[in-house]
Amino acid sequence: MRRYRPTAIPGSQITPESSYFQRRDILRMTAMGGLALAAPSLAFGTEALEYKSGGYDPKEELTPEADVTSYNNFYEFGTGKGDPAAKSGDFTPRPWSIKVDGLVGKPAEFDLDALTALGLEERIYRMRCVEAWSMVIPWIGFPLASLLDRVEPLGSAKYVAFETVVRPEEMPGQRGVFQPLNWPYVEGLRLDEARHPLTILAMGLYGKTLPNQNGAPVRLVTPWKYGFKGIKSIVRITLTEDQPASTWNRLAPNEYGFYANVNPAVDHPRWSQAMENRIGGGGFFGSNERPTLPFNGYGDEVASLYDGMDLKVNY
Ligand code: MTE
Repeated sequence: MRRYRPTAIPGSQITPESSYFQRRDILRMTAMGGLALAAPSLAFGTEALEYKSGGYDPKEELTPEADVTSYNNFYEFGTGKGDPAAKSGDFTPRPWSIKVDGLVGKPAEFDLDALTALGLEERIYRMRCVEAWSMVIPWIGFPLASLLDRVEPLGSAKYVAFETVVRPEEMPGQRGVFQPLNWPYVEGLRLDEARHPLTILAMGLYGKTLPNQNGAPVRLVTPWKYGFKGIKSIVRITLTEDQPASTWNRLAPNEYGFYANVNPAVDHPRWSQAMENRIGGGGFFGSNERPTLPFNGYGDEVASLYDGMDLKVNY
């Protein structure tokens, strides 16, 4: 399989799909002509935005983009893996803003321009779903710490709560008789986890603006935690003193902990977490099985956040 290298096509432009292909073709031609090229960029309107590499690359084969954008969990659009891609066409992620409030000195509302101004980077992260499959995804986003710095958390703030949009008119999973979850979808992190350099808010993947099914226009990415922590289509971030609720923990606390750190030594009550199936390449649940790593392989970076904690109790 071909490996996507952002630097191989230095001008790979990240714009809405139609102009993206056009622009990429132009840049390929330019590259062949040997001319100087613009830095990679992402667009949320007509304007292209530059981004740089964030310096993270596990040097593993990327999961094909077609799998990243078609095999999803996003219950607001249905519970099937294909539902988010098939049923999110009516969702309108622009215009958008995130309200940041709670225990902060400067509560604020950030629109997409204000978010992208926090500094976009590409981060290639290993991702591990609680359902024992995994992917490697080239995200484009900015460190959550940059946003938190702007609102000046108070000394009393200990946690960060996140909330997804509620729009039954655009999200078929939020209407009808069967409601699989309580809305809004909510998640939380301890403040030190939220400020950790690995934690980003993603606004793009594979050099393009984030598709609806992956959480447009902005979603959380914490690569050392199970995927359900990665709350999508965020409209509100609140700094709190007490540990906030998280959707799956509230639904089944014995199955899904608040911390949700990837831990091969703690099985889910209904299945083992020792192994995982890497999506793509060898096909779904085929020959692509591999051992799951503590903290999903990011232990050197994050293990110290949990010094002195029993990770079997705090799963
Ligand atoms: N966010 C919201 N709002 N609703 C959801 O159902 N599913 C979570 C998480 N974020 C979910 C969500 C789960 S279970 C996973 S594994 C990841 O999104 C999947 O992200 P992906 O589809 O981009 O791979």
